Amino acid sequence: MDINRIKDIRARQVLDSDGRPAIEADVITESGVMGRSSAATGNSVGINESAVIRDGDPKLFGGKSVYKAIDNVNKIIAPALRGMSVTDQKAIDEKMIELDGTRYKTKLGGNTINAVSFAAARAGAASEKLPFYRYLANGKKIRHSFTPVYNLVNGGTYYGKTQAFQEFILIPRNVDSFDEAVRVGVEMFYTIGDIIAEEMKQKPVMGKYCGHGAPSDDPSVIFDIFNEAASRLGYKDKVCYGIDCASSEFYDSKDFSYRYRGRDISRDELTTLLKNLCEKYPIGFIEDPLNEEDFDGYKAAHKIIPAALIGDDLLCTNIERARKAYEMQAADGMIVKPNQVGTLTETMQTVDFLKEKNQILIASGRSGGPLDDPTTDLVVAIGGHMLKTGAPRSGERVVSINDGIHIAEELGMDGRPFNVMKLAGFSRIDK
Ligand code: PGA
Ligand code: ZN
Repeated sequence: MDINRIKDIRARQVLDSDGRPAIEADVITESGVMGRSSAATGNSVGINESAVIRDGDPKLFGGKSVYKAIDNVNKIIAPALRGMSVTDQKAIDEKMIELDGTRYKTKLGGNTINAVSFAAARAGAASEKLPFYRYLANGKKIRHSFTPVYNLVNGGTYYGKTQAFQEFILIPRNVDSFDEAVRVGVEMFYTIGDIIAEEMKQKPVMGKYCGHGAPSDDPSVIFDIFNEAASRLGYKDKVCYGIDCASSEFYDSKDFSYRYRGRDISRDELTTLLKNLCEKYPIGFIEDPLNEEDFDGYKAAHKIIPAALIGDDLLCTNIERARKAYEMQAADGMIVKPNQVGTLTETMQTVDFLKEKNQILIASGRSGGPLDDPTTDLVVAIGGHMLKTGAPRSGERVVSINDGIHIAEELGMDGRPFNVMKLAGFSRIDK
């Protein structure tokens, strides 16, 4: 008997860190080893992501329950995967893709497939008695060398003003250890809160992503606060910044314009505005600068904006979209979010393609993600350059940072973060 064979798969509904129902799966082998995972789902969700299926019955969890997804595991996925070896991730994932048969996994649910895919991988790691990051690396050399980056100020509407850009990101640089990268991020977070209180005379509020709610609709005001915090702490040479514009969220497809600070602006105006920001502040990357379908706009923006352009909603961890962006020279890298595409195998195919092309890889959890978030294991396994952890506040975000501390210790390394200054778009910052 192959003790690694799948004996059973069970699914249930649990809650994610936003209190929404989420599907969780257990994959159990003949030898009694179990792997468990729930599926992350985001809040700022790209239209090209694999589907999150929910029951839509307003009487149940406001329509958000996932009982149909659970049924799909019990009735369709479990019978088909029983007997397969839990260490054969590719076969497991391919089987689920085949059973689903749709482009966006609408039949079985991207969330359903994601939970089973990661539960199988965790069972595989447990069977082989390997830490998850090592199992995911699949024999490749492991390095704990990534920079944790923090979404310290969040867009949205606060103090009566709407900040269009979703995330103002702090990127540690010139740091010697993972601990130092944590310290820089956390101290900047505290100090930005102090400055909002003292200089803006606003009581800092918690933003949509657990960072500080943006105190202004003007990005320059926010980066001035970042600069002020860096000078107070003596961290001018230890920080640079990123923006996640999440532009699809304020794009209006009816007139191809962006709703920005009470005006409608064109993509060219938005591109120029971002270029100017990059010239004024030490901004290393801009995520989702334009609408998620605008590959041509990215291509044009890429020639003008001096920072690295990173695709999140643009690419959705999807290899075809990543290949298209690479071939068009529309972006410099990708946000890696496995649930966007569905399976671990598809995620790794996209990652391998981009790695070979020397593109920037930033692994990211989802807001409202699971408490057993695998993103830190993933960033170590793929040798990613950065890990987006959100703000250093709230359990599911802090857990990723603490995982980074644990893994650095386990590997007996100081976890010296990747030197982001080597990346496209960053080296100009000191010039
Ligand atoms: P999420 O998005 O809220 O869907 O997790 C965060 C992001 O856009 O990076
Ligand atoms: Zn994003």
